[in-house]
Amino acid sequence: MIEIRHLKLVDTVAKVGSLTKAAEKLFLTQSALSHQLKELESNLGVQVFHRVNNQLHFTAAGKEFLEASEEILDHISKLEARLQQLSRDQLKNYIHGYSEEETKRLNDQATSISELLHWDSWWPDGACVLEAACGVGAQTKIISQKNPNVKFVSVDLSEKSLEKAAKMRDALGLENVEFMLADVFSLPFKDNHFDHVFVCFLLEHVADPSAALKELKRILKPGGSITVIEGDHGSTYFHPQSSAALKAVQAQVELQKGNGGNANIGRELYPLLTAAGFTDVKANPRVVYVDDSRPDLVEGFTRNTFTAMIKGVGDEAVSKGIIRKNEFDEGIRDLLRTAEGGGTFCYTFFKVVGWKV
Ligand SMILES: C[S@@+](CC[C@H](N)C(=O)[O-])C[C@H]1O[C@@H](n2cnc3c(N)ncnc32)[C@H](O)[C@@H]1O
Repeated sequence: MIEIRHLKLVDTVAKVGSLTKAAEKLFLTQSALSHQLKELESNLGVQVFHRVNNQLHFTAAGKEFLEASEEILDHISKLEARLQQLSRDQLKNYIHGYSEEETKRLNDQATSISELLHWDSWWPDGACVLEAACGVGAQTKIISQKNPNVKFVSVDLSEKSLEKAAKMRDALGLENVEFMLADVFSLPFKDNHFDHVFVCFLLEHVADPSAALKELKRILKPGGSITVIEGDHGSTYFHPQSSAALKAVQAQVELQKGNGGNANIGRELYPLLTAAGFTDVKANPRVVYVDDSRPDLVEGFTRNTFTAMIKGVGDEAVSKGIIRKNEFDEGIRDLLRTAEGGGTFCYTFFKVVGWKV
């Protein structure tokens, strides 16, 4: 019966002293404001204001309503501030950050292994797919072009990344993608809303992947699928062998763990999805193998995706005492050595699909 807009209306009238000024402040026409006021008074069966000599005065009921409104609105604004702080804290914990280099890295990553990860990323025409944690839209670009008759709602926690994603969408003229700011742990959608869900490189960064999967399952329709793609740094091997390079990779694993994530999550996707109640779960390891007969992968994957990613966490890993600077630098040199003549590099991604019954 009482809605938040009613609380705001009464509170604003009390603060600015007139209906005209309150309408301006609330971006309403005066007739819309009067309509809301009448609606409130008729719902409550009491008058909130009475007019004396063209001036508004609160009735006794109105005064009580105003006091409660101030208290409730104060609680709401404190709650909003707390939640916004929580969301900023989550972004601070995100180890790759939101730099221009990271945008380039995400795009290089998505492009260099697009066939390997997405040769089977098809959804039926007319379906509506939620893409969770779309970042700058590097995967969105690939899956939305591959499925022109599927509608994608792509969400992320970072406004800055979503702006970049929207620019990319507009430049490419993609008409089947909508970007939205949203937290995967509390999505602004009703139960059973989406036909399918797609998640790429998110669960490795969150402290409670099961809670994220639970929320994704909530908004998924029965009969719908969830597709999750994650890496697993424990699957990294290369030639020439180098203990310094392995230590640099392990430094990222430790750093991510310290931030609540799990860089080796790929191997755990099957048990995680099964425990979350998805059925018919199928895990599909996708191996990237690179040697100098595959120059696109040498550049796009070994150098610009994997080594760039490890390099990007170097300063933080060193400042937190996880690895010494000279050891880390040697590790990066050795990772780059695997991208030179005679070098080879191997890494496994896991693509896992499950269904909601
Ligand atoms: C490694 S990026 C992956 C982006 C994209 N999926 C891709 O593959 O290019 C991880 C993304 O997860 C987002 N993220 C982290 N926690 C999130 C949350 N709770 N809700 C929504 N997005 C989140 C980050 O902002 C970041 O954009």
